Amino acid sequence: MCGIVGYIGDLDSKEILLKGLEKLEYRGYDSAGIAVRNEDGVTVFKEKGRIADLRLAVEDDVTAKTGIGHTRWATHGVPNQLNAHPHQSASGRYTLVHNGVIENYHLLQKEYLADIEMKSDTDTEVIVQLIEKFSKDGMTTAEAFRYTLELLHGSYAIALLDAEEAQTIFVAKNKSPLLVGLGDDFNVVASDAMAMLQVTDQYVELHDLEMVIVKKESVEIQKLDGTVVERDSYTAELDMSDIEKGTYPHYMLKEIDEQPGVMRKIIQAYQNEQGELEIDQDIITALNEADRLYIIAAGTSYHAGLVGKEYFEKIAGIPVEVHISSEFGYNMPLLSKKPLFLFITQSGETADSRQVLVKIKKLGHPTLTLTNAKGSTLSREADHTLLLHAGPEIAVASTKAYTAQIAVLAITAAVAAEKAGRKADFDIVHEMSIVANAVQSLVDSKEKMEQIATDFLSTTRNAFFIGRNLDFCVSMEGALKLKEISYIQAEGFAGGELKHGTIALIEEGTPIFALATQKAVSLNIRGNVKEVVARGANPCIIAMEGMEEEGDTLVLPNVHPLLTPLVSVIPLQLISYYASLHRGCDVDKPRNLAKSVTVE
Ligand code: F6R
Repeated sequence: MCGIVGYIGDLDSKEILLKGLEKLEYRGYDSAGIAVRNEDGVTVFKEKGRIADLRLAVEDDVTAKTGIGHTRWATHGVPNQLNAHPHQSASGRYTLVHNGVIENYHLLQKEYLADIEMKSDTDTEVIVQLIEKFSKDGMTTAEAFRYTLELLHGSYAIALLDAEEAQTIFVAKNKSPLLVGLGDDFNVVASDAMAMLQVTDQYVELHDLEMVIVKKESVEIQKLDGTVVERDSYTAELDMSDIEKGTYPHYMLKEIDEQPGVMRKIIQAYQNEQGELEIDQDIITALNEADRLYIIAAGTSYHAGLVGKEYFEKIAGIPVEVHISSEFGYNMPLLSKKPLFLFITQSGETADSRQVLVKIKKLGHPTLTLTNAKGSTLSREADHTLLLHAGPEIAVASTKAYTAQIAVLAITAAVAAEKAGRKADFDIVHEMSIVANAVQSLVDSKEKMEQIATDFLSTTRNAFFIGRNLDFCVSMEGALKLKEISYIQAEGFAGGELKHGTIALIEEGTPIFALATQKAVSLNIRGNVKEVVARGANPCIIAMEGMEEEGDTLVLPNVHPLLTPLVSVIPLQLISYYASLHRGCDVDKPRNLAKSVTVE
């Protein structure tokens, strides 16, 4: 949530900052701003809306070689120009951007800033006003910044300009992601390497409670006690083409199309030279020593976790509980004697999941993170990491990360089973390559999916998704996809459950998407469809080849029964995409959402 950038060097910083913010828009996009510093002082431009709106507000004739920028997902204060970052201190000397939440901002305001008139409703403004207060009390900027950081409770990634100190950007991090990028005669700051790949691929990771003095020719990382930290840089393994839309109208469509390739990449990444599946032995030992696996995740990742439960239980014989992270951390169930915790998180930054990780580490239990983001907070802080190898996912609605999560979970369960001496009744590598082909044929059938969106979703205000067993897990994901990008109210249900209440909502023409890929419950789901059709529903039945009946809307290519979620979710992703498109919604940046949810 929220993205920040900074540049100090020889070039005009405006364009670099704006381009960087465009790459960070996935983190929040309700308002944005930049502050640039030149010999005339600091100039701030900020706007409600997207970076495109900010661009129009930025004056061409202001040139400056130092600057900071921010794209916002509002937490404190409505999205408007006043609450947009950068924020400035009362005298205008200090200018600051912040990603995170300061939990004690009210207390700090009361204690230290009673005589300062706040210009915004944000928690962030308190930080910049405090820095000015302490500098007026006689501290240097670095001292005032450090002193302020010590008072803050909460999360922050901060970049600060001092109008009286032209050569420096002051930076700090706690819990919110932040990197420093290195260049020849310039340095940059960014929430994500993606933002500054335009100028450098060399980055230095920052740790929590570190402060950084960034100058054109140097970067000094310090702990809050002033101790200097030496840390090597790394090369960001990202390609510009990974983060560009190319010829696609939307990232979401590009990412849906990438799924067959991602499947194949995952198989390769987890194969050794002999072509056998291989997972870090420590992870497999941890899995096989655990008496219960607790999967912790949010949103789409939680839905992938539900599928993962089936894999670990059915393939590897490991009992599993799947929990929503925001609930688990504050209402922990009785734990088993030897639990292992698996955090599933595309971004590796989700605050709801991280608070659970922190608590579990305190309890001393082993932890594993399954993530798409190498070096992310949840990856660094867990004992072990499994990577998704899905490439950057930029559209807010998760698609390829979901299928990648399921694929890696299946492979991990299969390897754990094999190492524990359980004979699998299927060759997962072979079955996954069949899946990749099936996914390819579905993403190649876009016209059909668009037609379904037209036929079923053009005018409706709600829709239901039903399925049983694994199809139920996918129904929930299908409903989430549709509601988050098209704003059609959608719910995923266990097929048998609608009649226990929700069937009251079925009216003439209500669309019901029914998945029928599970042989054992095929008759049951058909029965559930009949119940809703009898009450006027408009059924869209998506059945697995071999289980289809006359009149079904779509027949999916046949794959192994345990791997059907990888295939059945594809039409649901595409149908949601077209429903959103037809309604004129912003597919990649749906309202009120952000890609990386770094607040609880
Ligand atoms: C929906 C979506 C979200 C995320 C959720 C968790 O399309 O993307 O529901 O799955 O915010 O995010 P991660 O996986 O980054 O922890």
